[in-house]
Amino acid sequence: MTSYKELGLVNTRDMFAKAIKGGYAIGAYNFNNMEQMQAIVQACVETKSPVIMQVSRGARDYANINLLRNMARGVVEYAHELGCDIPIALHLDHGDSFETCKACIDNGFSSVMIDGSSLPYEENIAVTKKVVDYAHQFDVTVEGELGVLAGIEDEVSAAASHYTQPAEVIDFVSRTGVDSLAISVGTSHGAFKFTPEQCTRNAEGILVPPELRFDILAEIEKKLPGFPIVLHGSSSVPQQYVKIINQYGGKLVDSIGIPEEQLAKAAKSAVCKINIDSDGRLAMTATIRKILAEKPAEFDPRKYLGPAREELKKMYMHKNIDVLGCAGHALD
Ligand code: G3H
Ligand code: 13P
Ligand code: ZN
Repeated sequence: MTSYKELGLVNTRDMFAKAIKGGYAIGAYNFNNMEQMQAIVQACVETKSPVIMQVSRGARDYANINLLRNMARGVVEYAHELGCDIPIALHLDHGDSFETCKACIDNGFSSVMIDGSSLPYEENIAVTKKVVDYAHQFDVTVEGELGVLAGIEDEVSAAASHYTQPAEVIDFVSRTGVDSLAISVGTSHGAFKFTPEQCTRNAEGILVPPELRFDILAEIEKKLPGFPIVLHGSSSVPQQYVKIINQYGGKLVDSIGIPEEQLAKAAKSAVCKINIDSDGRLAMTATIRKILAEKPAEFDPRKYLGPAREELKKMYMHKNIDVLGCAGHALD
């Protein structure tokens, strides 16, 4: 058993309390490899932002749990070396079972999500409560989910979303004891969140997707005052990256994400964790495609992974400063 405290990590309790009070959200950024990890930490140290580094089941399979744990230790030391001891949580994204959550808690994670959102309501409560009871013995925080997002998360995909029902949230939170709640209010996973038919064109001819359901979010906030809410599927799918990818041989058709203004509005509410994965994938892929196309003789991975890491860092800094509002809040 390795406690996250030995690794210098923190759970999300304090982070969320401060985020709610300060009217901002914390970036929950997925990582699978060293370059992504470096970009996240560099961006968060430079913007003095707290951060949640999250690992999906796919990432665990890809990177190995022992390596991830040691990377997390390295992340804390790296932030220190870069000059700012920002609060860093290591979070399991979309935990699919009690066993997966337990394995992560036992291996140094400071926060876990148990995603029972595709289960019948009572089964979601039962498995979430089981994870909470185990996690809280070690002061690990737990995120649960009510409502279903459209799109693909790990290997589970849902064709349509089911918005979270505000009538259920008090019962769910009080019976499970979760520390935060992921809800479904119109975001979805992946780079293809909306079809062009679902969007309208603004004055500049840009496709704008339907507004998030801020009415449902407000109702949930009213039922759970001061309780931390989480938004998954919150990539904005920056069109400059989609354009570069397609310009250099990619085939991303109709990739439309959540407008950043809507995320910025949500960040000022009880939403205090915003999950972003796909945007990072797009930033890296766009950079790598461009370099490989323009310099076909290049074969040193550092020559394309290095610039991809720089672009990623720039993107996370922009999210922290301009979208989530968490910049400058690391040492609150
Ligand atoms: O919600 C899902 C995340 O974007 C993780 O995706 O399983 O491909 O790592 P992944
Ligand atoms: P995106 O696919 O919108 O980046 O969402 C990521 C996510 O919710 C991870 O849990
Ligand atoms: Zn998610």
